[in-house]
Amino acid sequence: MRAIILSMCSEQFMELTVLPGTNRCGEIEGFDRITLHPGDTVSIVGSTGSGKSAFINDIEVLAQGDTVTGRSILINGAPPSDEMVRDPAKKPIALITQNTRVIADLTVCRFLALHIRARDTYALELIKRTVALANEFTGEKISESMRMTSLSGGQTRSLLIADAIMIGQTPILLLDEVENAGIFKEKVIRCLKHYHKAVIFVTHDPLLAMITDRRIVMKNGAVTGVIEPDGAEREMVSHIAGIDAFLVELRERIRAGDLIRSDHLPGNKPLVPA
Ligand SMILES: Nc1ncnc2c1ncn2[C@@H]1O[C@H](COP(=O)(O)OP(=O)(O)OP(=O)(O)O)[C@@H](O)[C@H]1O
Ligand SMILES: [Mg+2]
Repeated sequence: MRAIILSMCSEQFMELTVLPGTNRCGEIEGFDRITLHPGDTVSIVGSTGSGKSAFINDIEVLAQGDTVTGRSILINGAPPSDEMVRDPAKKPIALITQNTRVIADLTVCRFLALHIRARDTYALELIKRTVALANEFTGEKISESMRMTSLSGGQTRSLLIADAIMIGQTPILLLDEVENAGIFKEKVIRCLKHYHKAVIFVTHDPLLAMITDRRIVMKNGAVTGVIEPDGAEREMVSHIAGIDAFLVELRERIRAGDLIRSDHLPGNKPLVPA
């Protein structure tokens, strides 16, 4: 079984490099190269339409100056092999977008089994572990007998993240606005760090942006800065995490149909004082 999994990604991933392209006005972007190693976490921030999705799409298609941005991607310091570009099983990258849906009319179990391409007891065990991991990311539980087409957006993304980790063993994950699916983002991050994945989050979520190692700032289709948060910002993280935890709890109450009362607020104080 292990041999099957490893054959999906035979070349050992050590480094991914993004070489600059141009912004919408044709001007060269503000960086020499951006490198990503196993275990690195990077967020991409910027206003709507600033080019965040285009940046991770360039990585996913292993661009070679052939996309609107003109960026190029190197794997382990060299242009990717034709095999890696053409064969999805050889690509060390999984992109999970806001709109990722699986249209194949299969059960969860059959979908995962197809990915594993084998049906021994170890494979069955792997399906169970993948569904269990996905269920750590979502409040609405997934079962093996559900049909892929009936899963919600959040369930689908949870399953695909778990699938990329457990079955694809993909070393690089690109997650486009994962926070909007209502999945448990902290658990996803903890798990990705545990498995030493290289991860790029496109995000509008302050906490997610603050807990990554680096932050890429986009404007007008180009990278305008790569920030490594300093100690002063890091010290703020636990405070922001407290605010975020409160908002998560508030969201769960509203989802459950509760009315929000003042005693639900932290310290019983209104969020916006009268
Ligand atoms: N460097 C570039 N040169 C030319 N066009 C670009 C460039 N970067 C992005 N674009 C185009 O601009 C449009 C918006 O970009 P994109 O979808 O990446 O924005 P976004 O930051 O992801 O926005 P949102 O937050 O709304 O998802 C797309 O059509 C994209 O192809
Ligand atoms: Mg986008």
